[in-house]
Amino acid sequence: MRTRTGEARRSRRVPDAPIGSFESVVVGLYNRHMNPMRNLLLWASRNGSLERMVVGNGRFSGLARRFVAGETEEEAIRVVQSLNQRGFQVTLDFLGENTTNLDEARQARDEYLHLLDVIHEHSLQANISIKLTQLGLDLGVDVALEHAEAIARHAHERENSVEVDMEASAYVEDTLAIFETLQKRYGNLGIALQAYLYRTPGDLRRIFQVGGKVRVVKGAYNEPRAIAYQSREEIRRAFGRILEQLLTRDAVRAGVRTAIATHDDFLIQMARTLIRRNQIPREAYEFQFLYGVRRDVQEALVQEAPVRLYVPFGTHWYPYFMRRLAERPANLAFFLRALAGR
Ligand code: FDA
Repeated sequence: MRTRTGEARRSRRVPDAPIGSFESVVVGLYNRHMNPMRNLLLWASRNGSLERMVVGNGRFSGLARRFVAGETEEEAIRVVQSLNQRGFQVTLDFLGENTTNLDEARQARDEYLHLLDVIHEHSLQANISIKLTQLGLDLGVDVALEHAEAIARHAHERENSVEVDMEASAYVEDTLAIFETLQKRYGNLGIALQAYLYRTPGDLRRIFQVGGKVRVVKGAYNEPRAIAYQSREEIRRAFGRILEQLLTRDAVRAGVRTAIATHDDFLIQMARTLIRRNQIPREAYEFQFLYGVRRDVQEALVQEAPVRLYVPFGTHWYPYFMRRLAERPANLAFFLRALAGR
């Protein structure tokens, strides 16, 4: 059985709090001890005792609301309806990952099947995002394939689509293989590709053979230098090279759609330029953001381009929430203030 390598964010320095404030002290400390603090938070994101403490404390579930639509499907649906009214499309994520219990993997599959029905009944502008480890990839490729296929088939019957999140590098090959199999059968799949992995340009060539949506992301896991770029600049350049391959007429002809999934202004700007210069049709691309992150940019962009928000919901919000805290020092300050009851 494989183990997760864990998520980590790359370094960044964000002086985004007023000087002298509690936030500025936390941001300063974070910037000076960036990797240890981030690693500590990412370690905390996988700690069961801390999870029980945080989840049991109502103050934190309140804070998590910034990034998570709610614990129930009803709450998530209300959020989707409100986002749709403001022009956003949505991809819904039922929170959960690294399931090692077959019953839980089946429950996750059933939740997604039901979700597709609910999306259909409410005529929501939404599809779904799945994690193959939530559907049992650690129990075997056949288990994950069977569950993902049930979901892809059901989505196909509902004229909807399924996006496959990319997880740690140990899962990339199996995730691609499952994506290729299902895309050939149903034609309604998307897959996230991580710019930090050296292998990604080769994987992209494979996707050009089967078509589908490619969600380009920087990559959220802690990968070694032997297989992945480490610095923010290297990753940004790799992301840019992938955009140059994807936002082309060749990609459009091959039936490949592009989702530009980043909050990085430089890359968003670059994508806008490529789209304009190569006259990429509106139906062949979209921008994607995480729910609750850079809302100002989301609101501005949706006035001119298709924008889809990644909206997670469910009771298993703790690891996702902790990863969002680890991404940005100001978020951590917010959390510590709540911890201190201030
Ligand atoms: P970067 O981290 O450099 O952030 C750019 C700026 O955005 C920051 O300077 C800050 O202002 C702001 N920002 C970023 N994170 C923030 C936060 N938490 N709170 C507040 N502000 C923040 N990864 C993966 O490995 N597999 C996957 O399947 C996916 N799926 C996915 C879907 C979507 C829609 C998005 C947007 C992202 C993913 N990711 C992912 C995560 C991705 O790999 C990456 O870790 C994050 O998007 C952060 O990288 P950015 O590109 O946003 O740049």
